[in-house]
Amino acid sequence: MGKEKAALRVAELSEQLRAHNYNYYVLSNSTISDYDFDMLLEELQKLETEFPELAKEDSPTKRVGGEITKDFETVKHQYPMLSLSNSYSKEEMQDFETRIKKLVENDLEYICELKYDGVAIGISYKNGKLERAVTRGDGTQGDDVTANVKTIRSVPLKLKGDDYPDEFEIRGEIFYPKDVFEKLNKQRAEAGEDLYANARNTGSGTLKMQDSAVVAQRKLDCFLYFVLGKDLPFKTHFESIEKAGEWGFKVPTEQLKTIKKCKNIDEVLDFITYWDTERHQLNFEIDGIVIKVNSYARQEEIGFTAKSPKWAIAYKFKAEQVKTKLSEITYQVGRTGAITPVANLEPVLLAGTTVKRASLHNADQIEKLDIRVGDTVMVEKGGEIIPKIVDVEVAQREIFSEPTVYISKCPECETDLVRTEGDAKHFCPNEWGCPPQIKGKMQHFISRKAMNIDGLGEETIDLLYEEGLAKNIADLYELTYEQLFELESFKEKKSQNIIAGLVDSKSIPFERVLFALGIRFVGETVAKKLAKHFKTIEAIKAASFDELIAADEIGDKIAESIIEYFKIEGNQALIERLQSHQLQFTLSEEQLANATTKLTGLTFVVSGVFSKFSRDELKASIEQNGGKVSSSISKKTSYIVAGENMGPSKLAKAEKLEVNIIDEDVYLELLN
Ligand code: IVH
Repeated sequence: MGKEKAALRVAELSEQLRAHNYNYYVLSNSTISDYDFDMLLEELQKLETEFPELAKEDSPTKRVGGEITKDFETVKHQYPMLSLSNSYSKEEMQDFETRIKKLVENDLEYICELKYDGVAIGISYKNGKLERAVTRGDGTQGDDVTANVKTIRSVPLKLKGDDYPDEFEIRGEIFYPKDVFEKLNKQRAEAGEDLYANARNTGSGTLKMQDSAVVAQRKLDCFLYFVLGKDLPFKTHFESIEKAGEWGFKVPTEQLKTIKKCKNIDEVLDFITYWDTERHQLNFEIDGIVIKVNSYARQEEIGFTAKSPKWAIAYKFKAEQVKTKLSEITYQVGRTGAITPVANLEPVLLAGTTVKRASLHNADQIEKLDIRVGDTVMVEKGGEIIPKIVDVEVAQREIFSEPTVYISKCPECETDLVRTEGDAKHFCPNEWGCPPQIKGKMQHFISRKAMNIDGLGEETIDLLYEEGLAKNIADLYELTYEQLFELESFKEKKSQNIIAGLVDSKSIPFERVLFALGIRFVGETVAKKLAKHFKTIEAIKAASFDELIAADEIGDKIAESIIEYFKIEGNQALIERLQSHQLQFTLSEEQLANATTKLTGLTFVVSGVFSKFSRDELKASIEQNGGKVSSSISKKTSYIVAGENMGPSKLAKAEKLEVNIIDEDVYLELLN
């Protein structure tokens, strides 16, 4: 296909895909099959690969992410991101009205909306194109998370119509839909990973992930509720939301009863009452209702306090609580041997789900609540998926009830528990003989972010352990096809898959193998830092405490844990066996070949746009050569590598602190 024809087809495909996206993600109304959508997208991708100059920034192919952000740039909000004052009762709502009526007499109209329990975001558009997305941060400045926000399908990259202002900002809330969050946790449970406790914090963590391709798979969503800009072409908030809907944003609608015009506080209270019960039917979390004065002119008359607009208020729902009885306290043993007490409750309905269990955290918590078997307890469910016990009805307690005595032996292997100073939790020290610890370590090893072994899941590990086929991670590599095939419900295909998955895992890079070992406090990031710094497992094993803490981001606690780990002969034997099965215990040739120590000890801040590198390539180059990349300028900064359009606030700070500013050519000279 010639370029001209390709350009036409690219435009046509982009338009079609954009419309399907909008229908599906904003209107929840599918207008094409997944398969047909993928075919169109694939065709567009092919054309863009063939003619890169046709690949626009706002192309639907950009939704899959790919851009890596190592450090999120801090940017100042053009308009500060304020919060809302809260209220909790009908009386407080009436007080709100009284305050407002003192300032404006007539024409008062309120808009009620849902208070989305997510992560606040401000997205700027220029000439109809998404320009930048910034988190709330401290309200004055936040993090630039544009690459990640662009992967959210309901956020338009290009606006519909042509009556939008040249420049404006729209604010809203990014969140995990409930079903997506549940699915995410289900996958984690299957991979033997700890569950995420609540959707909001997880959403906030996802927005700050470095790899936007991973964010793209996470299926975040975004509601918008506030338009800002100079000389906006509206007279009321309601109009702005309606228009934003026409431009392609996901906004509340009268049809779904997620926005309502109210003439007085009684009507507002009706809206509140309706949603206080109906909220459990929604596929996203809300924690209250937001009430705003509709007219911009009235808003201006009413004004702001330093922290929040006086023309708006949030009504917060009470976290739902319910009484039930504690039937038993049981104790769970985790992969690291940590003991978690669990309250087993008489099942009750709470916030739309049946609750049977609640975490009691640790011995101190039990003591603090003085909770006893048979007690009537108050259970609460806020944003957390695991409900908590907030109170014990001591008055209703039977006279002969006995205080809870915390266990002293492991419920699984009967070993005496230990509790080290400073640790809230008790531990079972029988690392090599306690079944849940053994299984937990194997489950961690095979999990997605560690060795990601195809075909192996939590249940299979349980089975292999129970059948005596695998008692540690090295045993997995000695499994044979015949052994697996003989297991109940194992067929040819399944057995072959597992063996193939294990063979494939031998090429998993060193840093992930290191993470998979499950050394206490050595998470994904720490494993990466260790691998990069020491390059081989032998070097890590040989490192002294001082040598360990000299590595980037390795503190006392981690260093001590690593030393402890290698002191144990069993661990050393395991590693030797894994080495004999050819797992990666050194950085790859490629990683080693490019690495130098030319920039060791130097800290760089990268700002602006470069011609010889992309920003990420430049940062990777600094790290490859032993340098450190930081996102903010401080006295510790050795150099700022500045490209075109370096931010003015960064420049001012650099000048103030007298940090060397170099361009990419000088950087290259530095390397050579
Ligand atoms: S309007 C100046 N509307 O709640 C007014 N905020 O606790 C700006 N929020 O900062 C906010 N749903 O992050 C507004 N429908 C809604 C909202 C909403 C959730 C968040 C927002 C705000 C926080 C205040």
